[in-house]
Amino acid sequence: MSLKLLVGCPSPPGWIKTVLADFDAFLQDHADCERKASATAMSLVAKYPNRVEIIPELISIGIEELEHFQQVYDILEMKGLQLAHSIHEDPYIKALMKAKHDGIEEQFLDRLLIASVVETRGAERFKLVAQNTPQKEMVNFYKMLWVSEAKHGHVYVKMALRYFPQDKVLERLKYWVKTEADIIESIPLRAALH
Ligand SMILES: [Fe+2]
Ligand SMILES: [Fe+2]
Repeated sequence: MSLKLLVGCPSPPGWIKTVLADFDAFLQDHADCERKASATAMSLVAKYPNRVEIIPELISIGIEELEHFQQVYDILEMKGLQLAHSIHEDPYIKALMKAKHDGIEEQFLDRLLIASVVETRGAERFKLVAQNTPQKEMVNFYKMLWVSEAKHGHVYVKMALRYFPQDKVLERLKYWVKTEADIIESIPLRAALH
């Protein structure tokens, strides 16, 4: 089955403007997001040790996200910046988590598909950064990230398809694409990934 994953709504045009107006703050948040993406993959390993079919893929994603973290951290260092000193709750992730269904199996499916829609949004936004940044040295880096996060978005759906019927996965994915779009349209703009 070939998948073509898309975000449910484009990012508001004000988002990229807000990011470019304070790119240093965006980079600090971006670093945190990569570290959290790695932690998300590893938390799925910890929560579902019996889902052995997907553990190798989760480890690979965990490593790739940690590499992204390392690369963003290198940029922060080069610019004489530090990581954010206090990490605020991410209203986007909080709202997504609140929209989970009840039940062990349902939550397993939801966690995989939330990871997928978050990755797909990351890809859409890194593409916007690559296309709009005036900093030439950032273009290829954000293009690489856009491709990588889009791939992760697909891998998480494929993981779900190993355990749930295709109809159920696609129907639930529709729910998450819509829910994620509603959240994106309701949260205030920040110089941050979400
Ligand atoms: Fe990443
Ligand atoms: Fe990713």
